[in-house]
Amino acid sequence: MIIAVDGPTASGKGTISRRLAADFALPLLDTGALYRAVGLAVLDAGEDPGNGDAAIRAARALDTARIDETRIRASEVGAAASIVAANPGVRAALFDAQRAFAARPGGAILDGRDIGTVICPDADVKIYITASLPARAERRWKELQARGESVTLDDVAAMIQERDARDASRAAAPAAMAADAVLLDTTYLSIDEAASAARALVEAARTRPRA
Ligand code: CDP
Repeated sequence: MIIAVDGPTASGKGTISRRLAADFALPLLDTGALYRAVGLAVLDAGEDPGNGDAAIRAARALDTARIDETRIRASEVGAAASIVAANPGVRAALFDAQRAFAARPGGAILDGRDIGTVICPDADVKIYITASLPARAERRWKELQARGESVTLDDVAAMIQERDARDASRAAAPAAMAADAVLLDTTYLSIDEAASAARALVEAARTRPRA
């Protein structure tokens, strides 16, 4: 079974995907971490994330087994990730690794922005997770505060809006809900409620005969 989970920043897709991976004993690929790792590599090389050649070089050289899970979560790395992710050469360089992960014999869960539309258009279950901008801004603000980053809630909201706009308007695999995805709005849901709603969607798909 392949489960595709897409959605914007701080919608809850990461947490929900981790819960689904545990519930259904499936391996999980956080594809945002790949773009973040490319963004971090470009910044570490002292290059501008908008420098296409540097970004493609970093994507081709990425060792997915050696991603620094702590450093990639910094807010400036998130911003760099969304800039390198608009580069078709970067997306092409990361495509095969994502497809190979999805093709694992026992199935897999992938979360990102273009999983249901581009990476796994034939996924068995597609969930598009969203939440209002204020709810997402507050969640991300709390995460960044816990990391020790001193940012205001207004700055985080502006950053998220900018990233949403860039992800949705880019020409290469724009962030979008697949036509056959189910929408899960987590604005008023606790993590437990959101995770059970997602679990119910997967259970329903498992028992539904495939068209
Ligand atoms: O954690 P957050 O939701 O803020 O972002 P992420 O999932 O870690 O992804 C970081 C950035 O990578 C996004 O803003 C997208 O620009 C990009 N991305 C993408 O283009 N395609 C994906 N499948 C996953 C992430």
